[in-house]
Amino acid sequence: MSERFDVVVIGAGASGMMCAAEAGKRGRKVLVLDHAKKPGRKILISGGGRCNFSNYDVSAANFICSNPHFVKSALSQYTNWDFISMVSKHGIEFEERDHGQLFCVDSAKQIVQMLLDECDSNFVQFRYQIAVTDIEKIGSGFTLLANGHRIECESLVVATGGLSMPKLGATPFGYQLAEQFGLSVVPTTAGLVPFTLHKQDKIDFSELSGIAIPAEIYAEDGTMFKEALLFTHRGLSGPSVLQISSYWQAGQKVTINLVPEADVKELLVQSREKHPNQTTKNTLSKVLPKRLVEVLIERKQLTDKPLKQLNHKEYDQIVELLEGWQIVPNGTEGYRTAEVTLGGVDTDHLSSKTMECKTISGLYFIGEVMDVTGWLGGYNFCWCWSSGFVAGQNA
Ligand code: FDA
Repeated sequence: MSERFDVVVIGAGASGMMCAAEAGKRGRKVLVLDHAKKPGRKILISGGGRCNFSNYDVSAANFICSNPHFVKSALSQYTNWDFISMVSKHGIEFEERDHGQLFCVDSAKQIVQMLLDECDSNFVQFRYQIAVTDIEKIGSGFTLLANGHRIECESLVVATGGLSMPKLGATPFGYQLAEQFGLSVVPTTAGLVPFTLHKQDKIDFSELSGIAIPAEIYAEDGTMFKEALLFTHRGLSGPSVLQISSYWQAGQKVTINLVPEADVKELLVQSREKHPNQTTKNTLSKVLPKRLVEVLIERKQLTDKPLKQLNHKEYDQIVELLEGWQIVPNGTEGYRTAEVTLGGVDTDHLSSKTMECKTISGLYFIGEVMDVTGWLGGYNFCWCWSSGFVAGQNA
């Protein structure tokens, strides 16, 4: 005996729950299946437990996708303001942090509960610890086995996310299913992830572990983020590094302005006039952590001598070093700590208005499993809400 649903959503994460609630609102009989024990595990740990659920400033420019126009339709059909009003309607208190980022004041659990409540009031059913196998397209619908039990549905929504954080239940299920149906998958890599350093750089900089500085960081393609940079015992992290990691490829260098708030040339010239015997180390320690200056001296990237002994070339070299410090990361920390997965189901196969597959009617892909990756700042959840919403209107 098989059960019948209008819509089966695989994945009880951010996008899956959003889609299920919306399809339920349309009177569709919806079932959500997940192999985990509970829903929304990534939401629960996101934003340090407070979930950076959206942003006041959202546009297509905040997303990485092989087709930069793809996200526009869904983002305009369901905007950040729509989600903000849902959060408000549920009485969830939130606050704005830097760069328009919106966080729960209390707990990320409230976002999961809100989505479950929305699903509940629209009679969405959930089943956990389910292994989904043997998915087939039959006539105008699909059949699948869930823990060996046959289920039929008209629409199948794949919301199984990316590969980051395997310990939270991430699997390549969505990519494999796409390939089963003949869809291509843009090669995946870890995004929003700390950099690791080559051996000597790691030895030199690991003692700065815990030190954060404001920085402007540039990828080779010219993309720039201005946010904090954090030295860690493994390499480099902090918001600016996580952001640029999504634009970095193995072997490329990153260029970092370590002093974006200071005019180093001016500082050196003025200091020399007033205190000609002051050393470069003491002078630069006014705009950078002293230990960082010392490490740059130990690495012979800076010379420590009285300012009066510096010639013009040396002035320029100091400015060049601090405003354009170049480093080639060894790699990234990978999916183990990455917040997102770059690449995914190729959007060329999907309708940007509905997320439905162009060649297989009734098959939808939403959220992070697709080749859409947001910046740090609530954008990945924005994509989940928007893509989940539009699929929910159509599935
Ligand atoms: P998501 O991964 O949320 O859900 C997929 C679901 O599918 C899971 O429940 C999983 O168990 C299930 N599943 C997987 N394989 C399956 C299978 N084979 N069978 C059945 N079920 C299966 N973003 C943001 O905007 N703001 C933030 O603050 C953060 N913070 C953050 C912190 C950390 C530590 C991480 C790792 C990530 C973030 N993110 C974030 C990113 C954000 O969490 C992520 O982009 C979304 O959760 C993706 O939502 P999805 O619904 O696409 O997948």
